[in-house]
Amino acid sequence: MSQQNPKVWFITGSSTGFGRSLTEAVLKHGDRVVATARKPEQLDSLIHQYPTTAKVVRLDVTKPQDVREAIKAAIDAFGRIDVVVNNAGFASVGAIEEVSDDTVRRQFETNLFGALDVTRAVLPTLRQQRSGHILNISSVGGLVSFGSLGIYCATKFALEGISEALAKEVAPLGIKVTIVEPGAFRTEINGQGLVIADTRLDDYADSTGGILQWLESMDGKQPGDPDKAATAMIQVVESDNPPLRLALGADAVDTIAAKLESVKAELDAWKQVSLDTAFEGSVVSAIGG
Ligand SMILES: NC(=O)c1ccc[n+]([C@@H]2O[C@H](COP(=O)([O-])OP(=O)(O)OC[C@H]3O[C@@H](n4cnc5c(N)ncnc54)[C@H](OP(=O)(O)O)[C@@H]3O)[C@@H](O)[C@H]2O)c1
Repeated sequence: MSQQNPKVWFITGSSTGFGRSLTEAVLKHGDRVVATARKPEQLDSLIHQYPTTAKVVRLDVTKPQDVREAIKAAIDAFGRIDVVVNNAGFASVGAIEEVSDDTVRRQFETNLFGALDVTRAVLPTLRQQRSGHILNISSVGGLVSFGSLGIYCATKFALEGISEALAKEVAPLGIKVTIVEPGAFRTEINGQGLVIADTRLDDYADSTGGILQWLESMDGKQPGDPDKAATAMIQVVESDNPPLRLALGADAVDTIAAKLESVKAELDAWKQVSLDTAFEGSVVSAIGG
């Protein structure tokens, strides 16, 4: 399909899963893609199929200099960037105490600082254009934290915090931000994308033991279809009024709804204690309102 005004997409982690599905869907849609991957040869077939609209760039998002060079390569190739998808990521599994220091840092370097570096490197271009859309692939775990996935969820909570602020900062400049919150989707994340803590402490067996078994048993059986997720993301980008948050999958919708209800119930139950903490006679209004 050829588009009248094709958009230029920049996607991280295009080798497998959501990144791969989205790259293929966007090319089929008629847009242009700078598909980035740690092993660009995994995308050779795309270059053969879409020689003029696909460009593949090597990118490990934990290398800030490479991030800047990849953005430059995208602009050199297509002259602009319309949609940025911060997708590259992996999941570490283990109780907070069990995950090694090295894995904690690697988890934040990839899922959070990688996305942050890409965003900060591309913002000057989007500001100059006075247009653009940043899609940050968070997770249901960006709003709800699960035992044994606490470090992974922390990276996604942080990504949500940055995205929510960014959306307010850049809206007047014509730039949009959408946080994508998938539930369980059939990608490589529960297989090669899973980093399991070497240390397993017996004391956590009851509270966290089941999750690893569940993650591994779900590998290849997750209900979510990444190709359909890609269609949903294109729909959001094509929308005149895209959402700040897009949950993907019934599991994500139900889990987030339950979290919102429990936060509201606890807020109400402890409201008086919360309100009684102001200085006598002070005027209180909503923060940032
Ligand atoms: N699938 C789900 O159920 C689910 C649910 C919620 C959120 N998510 C999020 O969706 C995003 C994509 O994951 P996925 O589910 O599609 O899993 P996936 O199939 O394992 O894909 C992950 C992608 O990230 C890339 N990647 C990992 N570390 C990288 C780095 N340092 N630099 C550049 N690329 C890197 C991988 O590249 P290599 O091939 O080189 O390893 C791969 O392309 C992640 O942010 C994940 O947290 C997934």
